[in-house]
Amino acid sequence: MENIEKVHLVVEEKFYPPKEMLEECIVKDYESMYKKSIENPDEFWSEIASELYWFKKWDKILEWNFPYGKWFINGKTNITYNCLDRHVKNGKRNKVAYIYVDEEGNEKKYTYGELLEIVNKLANGLKSLGVSKGDRVSIYMPNTVEAIASMLACARIGAIHSVVFAGFSEGALKLRIDDAKAKVVITATYTKRRGKKIPLLPVVKDAVKGLDFVKNIVVWDRDSDLDEGEFDSFLVDFKKLIDNSSSECQPEIMDSEDPLFILYTSGTTGKPKGVLHTTGGYMVNTYLTTKTVFNIKEDTIYWCTADIGWITGHSYIVYGPLANATTSVIMEGVPVYPHPGIWWEYVQKYRVNVFYTAPTAIRMLMRFGEEIPARYDLSSLKILGSVGEPINPEAWLWYYKNIGREKAVVVDTWWQTETGAHMITTLPCYPAKPGKAGKPLFGVEPAIVDKEGKPLPPNTVGHLVIKRPWPSMLRTCWGEPERYEKYWKEIPGNVYSAGDLASIDEDGYIMILGRSDDVLSVAGHRIGNAEVESAIVEHPAVAEAAVIGKPNEIKGESIKAFVILKAGFIPSDKLIEEIKETVREVLGAIAVPDEIEFVDKLPKTRSGKIMRRVLRAKELGQELGDISTLED
Ligand code: PRX
Repeated sequence: MENIEKVHLVVEEKFYPPKEMLEECIVKDYESMYKKSIENPDEFWSEIASELYWFKKWDKILEWNFPYGKWFINGKTNITYNCLDRHVKNGKRNKVAYIYVDEEGNEKKYTYGELLEIVNKLANGLKSLGVSKGDRVSIYMPNTVEAIASMLACARIGAIHSVVFAGFSEGALKLRIDDAKAKVVITATYTKRRGKKIPLLPVVKDAVKGLDFVKNIVVWDRDSDLDEGEFDSFLVDFKKLIDNSSSECQPEIMDSEDPLFILYTSGTTGKPKGVLHTTGGYMVNTYLTTKTVFNIKEDTIYWCTADIGWITGHSYIVYGPLANATTSVIMEGVPVYPHPGIWWEYVQKYRVNVFYTAPTAIRMLMRFGEEIPARYDLSSLKILGSVGEPINPEAWLWYYKNIGREKAVVVDTWWQTETGAHMITTLPCYPAKPGKAGKPLFGVEPAIVDKEGKPLPPNTVGHLVIKRPWPSMLRTCWGEPERYEKYWKEIPGNVYSAGDLASIDEDGYIMILGRSDDVLSVAGHRIGNAEVESAIVEHPAVAEAAVIGKPNEIKGESIKAFVILKAGFIPSDKLIEEIKETVREVLGAIAVPDEIEFVDKLPKTRSGKIMRRVLRAKELGQELGDISTLED
């Protein structure tokens, strides 16, 4: 296929789980459980969903009205009841839900009982501000339990949360608040990163300017920096809102298909899409995947290093672990500050059993050498997870040897914001192949096909599609159903097109090679080429821009931009810096190009579409491929 440019090193060796792992696996027989989920989905999902609490059980498992799916029809539940009340009622009031740590070693533990109380108080606080079922609340918060409580408080009362990663700029935040028409924005005075305080409140204040539908900013004044006089009917004190509210809050009765949250993610065209997830199916599948992939037991200590601003945080810091009554570590900060052994120090300190991170972080930590992790006792680790981008076998092996000490199993989980939960992964009960994600999870029926939807033979690269609906699938794109329908109409055969390239081997292991569309993956973050391009042209000197991804040893991809200046402007280093600054303002630091090159022309098709593929091939010194549609 034309898009495949990289030759991937493939390690065919299989890595078997150790005996102790096999003995304690929740799923021992993957094949038969998978078979049941495919052949008898009603019974399968009914059994799993029955492990959770419903105010009223469903009448039917699935209603599939292509391409719209509804799951657990007429079921009534509340995800916070399953994540909190259920455990408190089952004698786990004093079990630790989260161990929060920061870069300075400060620690704070929250039990299930305490978390329920905070959530209820905050939920009542939101109600007192006029937030009710179906209203949207934007959350722009540091990676803390206060952020998690904010999400849960929304879910408690049926408000739809829209978390925006606190590394996004004012422009990106504004766009998301505006698109969701959020009634309230919850934020904090700052977040901590590399020992510095990064202000958040000023960003929110600027972002909501002119957005009259925003009725309140609720701010968590972390160090009581704000003057009493700064709070008014618009700016509300998070701590006071909690202190002044009752700790009793009946959970809103939610239909299975009532929206739970919106999370924005990049697509191939300019504006990010608001991926919408609903209550029942998302709850059931995040519960099941957390339990089976991470083998969650009563005493498991679990740590997912993601940020709540991304889907990994939603599903595998918040909802999945809480639904399983897990004890999780959550950290605010970066993996290399105050020293590049900080993660391993915390693994040792808290005796972490399951550790879940991204390949980009592993590759970065690899650079500091294996002597860093060697200083720590990592013997508690049993499962090492990977997510967000393909993990190259070198990084896989390093992770397995130096962190897992050849005793922990590696699970490489493929999924997306849209899928809500893990879709393809190795499970701890069967052997892993470095660089290959593994086999489909329960109820997931993938295929590798060509553009026409024809299945391809093993070991051939093609488009990854999913052939049937699954419980945690996105239901729509907020306000843009046509963008939702596109996922199911991209490739013939009524299949969901993931936008990824993949191949499958004779053993049924799927290898993900990367995106097939114009979406970049920079340090595991998904960024649309078009998004960066439109940010660049906001600089007054720029006439046109094209952005490509270049292979990067640590970040997976780095961003290179080709820029045509308007007449009268002369290329300079100063201009490069200014353009970078523009992107930082419009989108945030994660989208700033590493390289900017000024050019006079861009390769285009006769219909005027920029051929990024040609730019990329030229940049990487590769064959240009088919250029018959090139205009010039
Ligand atoms: O390209 C795939 C890559 O990340 C994309 C989804 O990005 P996002 O919605 O931001 O969610 C990331 C966290 C789930 C996918 O289309 N991706 C995700 N996990 C893997 C992966 N690529 C290869 N291997 C993975 N394990």
